[in-house]
Amino acid sequence: MEYEAVMNSKLLTLRSPVADWVNDDMHRTKVLDRFGIDSCCGGQVPLDEACRIKGLDPEQVVKAMQEDSVPVEAASGAEQDWANSLSGMVDHLESTHHAYLKNLMAELPPLMDKVIAAHSARHSALHTLKERVDMLWADLGPHMMKEERVLFPMIRRLDQGDGSGGGHCGGINNPIRVMMHEHSRAAGILDEIRQLTNQYSVPEDGCASWGLLVEKLRGLEEDLLLHMYKENEIVFPAALEVEGFMAGEGH
Ligand SMILES: [Fe+2]
Ligand SMILES: [Fe+2]
Repeated sequence: MEYEAVMNSKLLTLRSPVADWVNDDMHRTKVLDRFGIDSCCGGQVPLDEACRIKGLDPEQVVKAMQEDSVPVEAASGAEQDWANSLSGMVDHLESTHHAYLKNLMAELPPLMDKVIAAHSARHSALHTLKERVDMLWADLGPHMMKEERVLFPMIRRLDQGDGSGGGHCGGINNPIRVMMHEHSRAAGILDEIRQLTNQYSVPEDGCASWGLLVEKLRGLEEDLLLHMYKENEIVFPAALEVEGFMAGEGH
């Protein structure tokens, strides 16, 4: 089946990779995320296959994407502008997704502790949930620091026409490979968090704090998947292309 009429820029079918559906409209990550379909590191899987793995009806997923779809021209100015230049891209990542994560890293642990103190006697899986969240934070803190202190400055230098990577040996390919490997690991932990929270649900004997905790974890998944998608599929390929172009020019 083809969906030419509803898509923004290209013809997509159920056999098209999940990444193509997301490339066509980035807001679809939210819908795919609701269905538990990985649009980041599992993005090369055809949509119908990704649905089959999750036991979902692909037609229903496409319908949800159509209803939720935000046409490119209707997206906010900020969403449109961020990808205009390499420097704009990394500025955007830092001021939105990195800032969001840092706030959440301060906000979430006390809430987690409160829910554990009240409910872990009857819900021991909360301890595992805390372990996974701590593991994610332990990974993401240094990950963002490496992006902000090493990779993003290299990308900004490329944008200024300096193809040397600022004297860093090996160019940007190596740090990008490391970052993408760390994204895969983070996506795996997000998947575990989704399972441990039973798809972000609160048991009947749960409280308002538990509800708030799972909403924050759901928001974390949504934002982090979009964040990693932007880096993996938009920013890193654009930076590699510019670096390759400069190398070809003999810079
Ligand atoms: Fe990042
Ligand atoms: Fe990253």
